[in-house]
This record gives sequence, C-alpha cells and structure tokens, in this order.
Amino acid sequence: MRLNFPDDFYWGSATSAHQVEGNNHNDWTEWEKSELKIQNLKLKIQDENFKKSFPPHIFSKWPTPLDLENYISGRACDHYNRFKEDFDIAKSLGHNAHRFSIEWSRIEPEEGKFDEAEIEHYRQVISALKERGIEPFVTLWHWTNPIWFAKKGGWLNKDAPKYFERYVDKITLSLKDVNVKFWITLNEPNVYVGKSYIQGNFPPQGRSFWRANKVFKNLIRANNQAYSLMHKIAGDKIKIGSTHFLVAHLPYNPKSFLDKISVKFLDYIRNFRPIRNAREHHDFIGIDYYHLERIEFSLRGRRWFLFNTHVSPDNLTEFGWEIYPEGIYKFLMRLKKYNKPIYITENGIADARDEKRAKFIKEHLKWVHKAISEGVDIRGYFYWSLLDNFEWDKGFWPRFGLVEVDYRTLERKIRNSALKYKKICKENSLDMDL
Ligand code: FCB
Repeated sequence: MRLNFPDDFYWGSATSAHQVEGNNHNDWTEWEKSELKIQNLKLKIQDENFKKSFPPHIFSKWPTPLDLENYISGRACDHYNRFKEDFDIAKSLGHNAHRFSIEWSRIEPEEGKFDEAEIEHYRQVISALKERGIEPFVTLWHWTNPIWFAKKGGWLNKDAPKYFERYVDKITLSLKDVNVKFWITLNEPNVYVGKSYIQGNFPPQGRSFWRANKVFKNLIRANNQAYSLMHKIAGDKIKIGSTHFLVAHLPYNPKSFLDKISVKFLDYIRNFRPIRNAREHHDFIGIDYYHLERIEFSLRGRRWFLFNTHVSPDNLTEFGWEIYPEGIYKFLMRLKKYNKPIYITENGIADARDEKRAKFIKEHLKWVHKAISEGVDIRGYFYWSLLDNFEWDKGFWPRFGLVEVDYRTLERKIRNSALKYKKICKENSLDMDL
C-alpha cells in the first residue's frame, strides 16, 4: 500500500546553531567551561552506575559519555564553515526544505552592536539553500543567549522581550533581500523553561517555579512582539510560527485516579499552555515530537511526579525515550481545532547503529499521513537531525543524524536510513510494503 502526501509537501531535516556550527561564544559555551560544571562532571564519570546506564556500543565511538570533551561544544560539526557541503548532502538526499537557526550571540555580540559580517554569513547560508532548491525555515532563537543578555538576567529580565525584539528587527530588515518565507521565532519555550528554570540541568540552572513562570511569560511576550514587528516590516508574505515540544503522556497505572489527574495536569502545563498562549501570534504551528512518558503521581522524594517506563528495551531509544508513533497522530488531531497549518519541525531518534531509525521515521509518517487523511492541514516534516550533533547537556554521544559525523576528522557519512528517507522525500509518498 502506498500513502501519498499532499502536493508541495516540505521534506527535510533540522539543525540548530549551537549544536552544529562550532566556535560559538554564548551563555552555553561559558557554562560548558565553568569550573563547577567540570568538577561535577568529573565526579559523575567516575561513578560506575553512570557508565552502566549506557548501552555498551555507545563506547565504541569517540567521544563517549566518559570523555570530558564530550560535554564541550567546541568546533562541533564545523557546520559554520561546511554549510555548503552539508546542504549538498541534504540536496542529494532529496530534501526540499531545511530548518536551521541564527545564533543571536554572533549577530549581537555586544549589547546594541550588530556584526554585519555575521549577518552576511547567514545571508549566504540562506542563499546556499535557495540555490539548491531547498526552502529555508529559519529559527531566530534556539535556546542560546548572548553573554551580555545572560548577564542582565537573561529571560528573567523584564526587558528581555524588548532586547529580543531589537535583534529580530535587525535581522528582518537586513535579510529582507533574501526573501525568507518561513520564520520560527522561538524553539520550544516549554523545554527551555523546564530545563533551565525548573529541573536546573541547562544554564542558568534555576530551580524555581516562580522564576520559571516569569521566564515563560517573557518568552510568550517575546514571541508575540516579534510576530507583530516582523509582519509590520515584511508584510503578509512571510509566515511566522514557533515550535513546541510535545510529549505524549499516559498514566503509569491506568487504574490510578491520581496518575490520570497528573497526566491531565502535565499535558496542559507542558504541551498545551504555550500553544494556547501564543495562538493569536502564529501563522503556523511547529511541533517537535519524539516520545511517550508514563506518569506516576508520587510523594516520594522531592518530586511530585515520576516519569517511568516499563517497556522492553527494544522500544526505547538510546536516549531512554519510549517510542510511541501513535502519539504524533493524537496530538495532530487535537491541534486541528486551531485551524492553522502544521509543520512537524522535529522528529527523530538517537540510534548510533542506525538499527531503528528507518522504521521510526516510517511509523511516525504513517500516523502523520492518517492525520492528513482525516483533515489536519500538515504541510511538512523535518527529521531531527541532518547531522549527528552536540546534544546539549548530554554532549556528543547521542547520534541523531541522518548523516554520521566522525568528530575526530569531521568526515560525514550518509547512514542507510537517510537513503530510505530519501526515497520517501523524492516520491512524496510512503510505500508501506517495503
Ligand atoms: C529538542 C531540541 C533539539 C534537540 C532534540 C533532540 O528538544 O529542540 O535541539 O536537542 O530535542
């Protein structure tokens, strides 16, 4: 059976500046080098249980979770210099769209001072995509901040949306000539708030609901202001959205009332609150979908909820995420009521041996197709990621790429699953019998 996708469907993959470019200078690079962080890492990697938490094959490629270099973004994939080569690969893989991000700290390294050479760099990146017939989807903020901005309190500062607006203003005006059609203001405000201000595992390692809420509100304000400003500058021909990380939730114990209530609460806070808050300031909705979490309400320890998995390891990714393709369909059906075009701006799997990736993509696309056939306006799919890259606090060991990167030589190697995905992109359809 063949599942055909709508005409003009966008097929591609995604990256973000800090994860692939190399040689950035932002709040993350500062944090990666901080003495406290390095001391903590040294303790962690000496712990036998830490080592045991990884599948053994993860240690066959450098860097491993036990190497300190793993946690320093450094030259990353050197995509900043090799973007043309990488876009040649994307083109050869049949992609007709590509999502990437502009690094704010490069554009505005000092407050109010813009670096024209860096703006020119991104003009060339965009032109390189267009020359190859690849539609750019440009993200303006993918979690990293200029150092001056972080020093002012980052997203906690009440003027943060104003600072962001100044950067957005500059970019929109400066890049008007290259006619980017699709803009993404913010990447996953919900994940940033959770990781940076509740769980404390991203800089600035906050742990406060009050602060988290303040940051959340500033991010929503930043999105809304940027949206209005960009349309004022570029009119209606551009389309603006942001991306939302959606986690499927199920009660750990299907019979437990408290587990079920917890699912409802988390589903609102994590998944739908950001979308509801920004819905008047979106021309499209970007969704990033990866996995399922089974929620148990608990008063043990300092946490209210436990995020459990009780499935066979076969159904887990190397990230420990439970694979649940049907979840994407359930979300898409729930988003139908917003009556906005939807792009799957990220979906992918850490799979160093490339054993599960092709099936993962296919299964998710099967459910995406079902949603389309039931009337949901879905217009594109971006696999995360084009390249293996720097996976934030986890470092380099997780291998999400369609293309493998050898971090010693920076050599790129196309994975087999990338060729299977290529067939789907080229044919604009999915052959379920293969
Ligand atoms: C998403 C992020 C992306 C990448 C993937 C695995 O939450 O947007 O940068 O880290 O997860």
